[in-house]
Amino acid sequence: MSLELTAPAPDAPDVADDGVWLADIETGETYAPFDEIRYTGEDGNLLEVRYADPPTFEDFRGQGRGVWRYRAALPFDEGVSLPEGDTPLHEAPRLRESIGVETLRVKHEGMNPTGSFKDRGMTVGVRVARELGVDRLACASTGNTSAALAAYGARGGMETLVLLPSGKVAAGKIAQAALHDARILEVDGNFDACLDIVQDLARRGEVYLLNSLNPFRLEGQKTIGLEILEEFRDDYGRFPDRIVLPVGNAGNTSALYKAFRELVQSGALDPSEVPKLTGVQAEGAAPMVEAVEHGWADTERWEEVETRATAIRIGNPVNAPKALPGIRETGGTAVSVSDDAITEAQRDLAKEGIGVEPASAASVAGLKKLRDRGVVDADEDVVCLTTGHLLKDPDAAFEAGGDPEPVANDTQAVLEHIGAK
Ligand code: F0G
Repeated sequence: MSLELTAPAPDAPDVADDGVWLADIETGETYAPFDEIRYTGEDGNLLEVRYADPPTFEDFRGQGRGVWRYRAALPFDEGVSLPEGDTPLHEAPRLRESIGVETLRVKHEGMNPTGSFKDRGMTVGVRVARELGVDRLACASTGNTSAALAAYGARGGMETLVLLPSGKVAAGKIAQAALHDARILEVDGNFDACLDIVQDLARRGEVYLLNSLNPFRLEGQKTIGLEILEEFRDDYGRFPDRIVLPVGNAGNTSALYKAFRELVQSGALDPSEVPKLTGVQAEGAAPMVEAVEHGWADTERWEEVETRATAIRIGNPVNAPKALPGIRETGGTAVSVSDDAITEAQRDLAKEGIGVEPASAASVAGLKKLRDRGVVDADEDVVCLTTGHLLKDPDAAFEAGGDPEPVANDTQAVLEHIGAK
């Protein structure tokens, strides 16, 4: 199996361009990376970007900040940048105490330029689009991808088209896509239906697809894992035991696993040091959890999905064949959580000053559940990924938070209202 954690670094095929090529993860067939537009292999199999020279930590030293500091792990040296990455790895002492683990850090990807981790993928993806000479970019989205695509497309001077599930995208995300001047198409169907349509458009050559099915997007998202490893090691002298993350299309799960695999290939990381990748889904949209529990190599599509965490309201995780080996090979797992548990975790994070959207809080809700079940041990060092900013979904924040209290326009009335002496 080509996605084994300990698979050796591959030799560059003839089609490689400066040590970079695309490979079909099932058949091993290789393709030139930038000669033609290609998202999948011959049978619709997923592709991944491969390198003749996998990176070491030394390669990143003294290379600046953010995503492009990791250029040794990326197909280009620079991209269309706003800039992105370099997000905080917060401490959360009260949460750590209440969950009961040795270490808990929260990697807040909501602090990227458009408020989600998608920016890391887009800075690379839009750079590739420029290389290929395309002029119209498109994606299906539960919201964050469309916000990021609209901003990076605008930055790169390209037209953008986004397909959104009607009525199921949080307000902040549509506002971003609108202001950055994407053409927004609202589809009477869920995210998976939108992705089917945009893939059809891409196949017809109408648009360049920038969903995470595009293997270059995941290259940028690898840098989440690289930042976590470096910062955790600098703070504690060791790597985290486990990374817990929300799962929708399983792009991040695949990307983090790829980052670790490449470090193992170069000898920078011992296989025993690789964090256990632990995915969390909402109960109403949990095909990955189902696949992990049954030991399947791919997910079965859920036609009906529902959750308050609209970002991960996804029934057909396209990156499952890349992510499932990652969860398995690192000794991780996957778990589903209720919408109420997600809201509670969103409040718990907010009490630590960390404002996230519901899907992000799923990671903390999942960690709690796994700790309660004894799957996660008390002596573990854990990093939870929070993927999107609080302001992405103001309606969810209002629902989870307290209500404003109307008061008279008068100091005395305000004093009485707050119960002042
Ligand atoms: N968290 C947030 C806030 C997201 O927006 C997404 C995906 C995920 C988690 C899941 O990440 O797909 O890598 O497993 N949002 C996509 C979008 C689908 O269109 O914005 P994944």
